Amino acid sequence: MVLKRKKILSTSINKKTSKLMDSINTSIDIDSRLFSEDISVTRAHALALEKLKIISNQELIKINKGLDKLVNLHTNKKIKFSRANEDIHMNIESLLHSIIGNTASKIHTGRSRNDQVATDTRLWVLKSCKNLKKQIKFLMKDILNQAKINQTNIIPGFTHLQVAQPVTLAHHLMAYYEMFKRDLSHLEFVEQMTNENPLGSAALAGSNYKLDTRLLNKELGFNESKNNSLDAVSDRDFCVYFLQSLAMVSLHLGKMSSELILWSSSIFNLFEISKNYSTGSSIMPQKRNPDSLELIRGKSNIIRNQSSSLLNVLANLPLTYFKDFQEDKKIIFDSYDDLILCIDVLSEIIKESKFNTVNGYKICEDNFASATDLADYLVLEKKITFRDSYKIIASIVSYAQTNKKNMSQLTLQDFQKFNKKIDQGIFKYIDIKNSITRKKTIMSTNPSKVAQAIKKAEKFVKK
Ligand code: ARG
Repeated sequence: MVLKRKKILSTSINKKTSKLMDSINTSIDIDSRLFSEDISVTRAHALALEKLKIISNQELIKINKGLDKLVNLHTNKKIKFSRANEDIHMNIESLLHSIIGNTASKIHTGRSRNDQVATDTRLWVLKSCKNLKKQIKFLMKDILNQAKINQTNIIPGFTHLQVAQPVTLAHHLMAYYEMFKRDLSHLEFVEQMTNENPLGSAALAGSNYKLDTRLLNKELGFNESKNNSLDAVSDRDFCVYFLQSLAMVSLHLGKMSSELILWSSSIFNLFEISKNYSTGSSIMPQKRNPDSLELIRGKSNIIRNQSSSLLNVLANLPLTYFKDFQEDKKIIFDSYDDLILCIDVLSEIIKESKFNTVNGYKICEDNFASATDLADYLVLEKKITFRDSYKIIASIVSYAQTNKKNMSQLTLQDFQKFNKKIDQGIFKYIDIKNSITRKKTIMSTNPSKVAQAIKKAEKFVKK
């Protein structure tokens, strides 16, 4: 049985609106997603009304039973929402009316859709922050696992996309771990800004009924009530903060996917994307395209725009509620769905794909990645100033390049042509592996330091 509403609730004096008006005004296709939040908010409000004796205990029980039935029907996909009833709030009230009759007509006493929608949306954002943090933590774990098995594997570190210095793959991956860890803190800030309850504000001026705001907060899990009813019904800052934190996550997803796309090119040959997440070309048999990563990058770029979309909806609006606000939901829902999908896909790619560190090592050797170490050899062991040493090593590099050799192919005699003080000791500094272990600082690529970072991270992701 599909439950149909008998009652179409009237929200305007002039009841008949044009079909076209209905098309622009209705939001049920989007905000039906707030079903469970609106049910919780309605239950809490009913409890507050009972405490004030606006409704009796029997009526409260009746309302809750009606709402239980609604939840049940909704779970079993037996509800057809009506566009004529505009939005989720009016739909639920009218559906409740079809189930329990006129007692449902008491439920909107002392509240307005303005504080109702603000509260529902806050609850949804809080729930979504929690889910997002969970998914991000999964991604961090997958990154961490790859880091753990690549603690001694070497790749080139780049600046300006030029081979700069050798680093371990673990160190490189842990840089992404740090970015996503920051995103978790950002989401915690969003939660803090969202955790204020608008209920009791009613349309804008506050309710004519002394609703127990403590009870409302306790029932819905809010830390506190909003301080000002005008602000409460018009504040959508929390949605902007939410989108901005999504934008930061997308920035990091975009960085990582874009880098892996580059690395999976045969020119770089540092990353072999799993077959499950790539496609072949319809014409070129040799190709494997990293489509999944490209889509993560594309979607991330769109997500990054969404906070400005919402900022533009909100900009220059005087106090208090305007229907413009109704546009907030599509933006936050779509951005959230896309972001969750991107995080999940990236997690799987990281788990299933292979990094080609053999080639990483070769790129370091062929591109003088230990040149800075050679400069430090002259400083540390031959007491030459860094600026002089830099010049000597730069001449050696250009000599090697002209002669199509890498550093380890040069002889001691070759080196001594540039400075008499150079001795056998230089070869230790040429070695790419030694470049890694020579790093001394806590945040460096030295495997012992990265191991410490990994240990700390393992504790963190377990929490
Ligand atoms: N569907 C509306 C929204 O999302 C609910 C609030 C309607 N309030 C009003 N005064 N028309 O914003």
